[in-house]
Amino acid sequence: MNEKEMVSEIQRLKEEKNAVILAHNYQIPEIQDIADIVGDSLKLSQEAAKTHADVIVFAGVHFMAESAKILSPEKKVLLPAVDAGCPMADMVDAEELKLFKRENPHIPIVCYVNSSAEVKAESDVCCTSSNAIKIVKGIKEDKILFVPDQNLGSYIAKHVPEKEIILWEGFCITHHRVKGIEVDRVREHRPDALILVHPECKPEVVEKADFVGSTSQIIDYASKSHKKEFIIGTEMGVIHKLCKDNPDKKFYLLSQGLTCVNMKKTTLDHIYRALAFEQHEITVEEEVRQKALGSLERMLELS
Ligand code: 13P
Ligand code: SF4
Repeated sequence: MNEKEMVSEIQRLKEEKNAVILAHNYQIPEIQDIADIVGDSLKLSQEAAKTHADVIVFAGVHFMAESAKILSPEKKVLLPAVDAGCPMADMVDAEELKLFKRENPHIPIVCYVNSSAEVKAESDVCCTSSNAIKIVKGIKEDKILFVPDQNLGSYIAKHVPEKEIILWEGFCITHHRVKGIEVDRVREHRPDALILVHPECKPEVVEKADFVGSTSQIIDYASKSHKKEFIIGTEMGVIHKLCKDNPDKKFYLLSQGLTCVNMKKTTLDHIYRALAFEQHEITVEEEVRQKALGSLERMLELS
């Protein structure tokens, strides 16, 4: 099958199976172009919760498909590339949180959506990069534990100084590589450009940026801005939509290392196989799902 035939086969199978394709902003261009919805983690969770489709094909990483299953248990949720995981999500586990809770029963736990169902089940509320500040501000306690991203946690701490945020030592292997000196260099080289970064970057990068936000917030900001040049400090997948929506503007990556190998594992062939053979189905044990659902629903209510 050539690419054109595969795309039409995907469309046919999608209708036959009443399926919806959700794709994260970091997916390869061919997948973004055939997806029904492309967005950041918050938008994709909201869509997963409200879709009427029977099958959700999640072009992203494991925790995203798992969140879709938690929110829509009656639907079949498929992760096309079975080994697409998120190393940051694996940096905290439920046993560690249970221990923390035994020792600190009055400290609520906020978990980044980049976490397993078991971690969500042990947390009080979830958040994404686009609503993290709002969620933490909405918690009545003065002290919280934030897991697993130390960089997003530091960003929240700066914006919610009235609360004490205990940080975990997790990080995104893609964003954490970027250095503050790279921002200085690019600023000198392209003084007219605005620097837009993701809060998964280190504080030394975030504090030098002109704008900090989730992938979709970065795309919206650049699209609405009257400026013509932008330096993008997040995974390179966002450049596709930025260029497509803004042909008159120029976009440069802040750092060469901004590629997430896990987000790049899904190909058109994987999507075709997911639909044709209904693979790979994501399941969540019911007791864990019920508890994790509480954390995700509290987040969606507060968003
Ligand atoms: P957002 O799209 O919510 O900004 O998420 C970034 C990310 O790293 C997902 O893995
Ligand atoms: Fe995980 Fe970072 Fe890849 Fe997002 S970009 S999936 S946080 S490793």
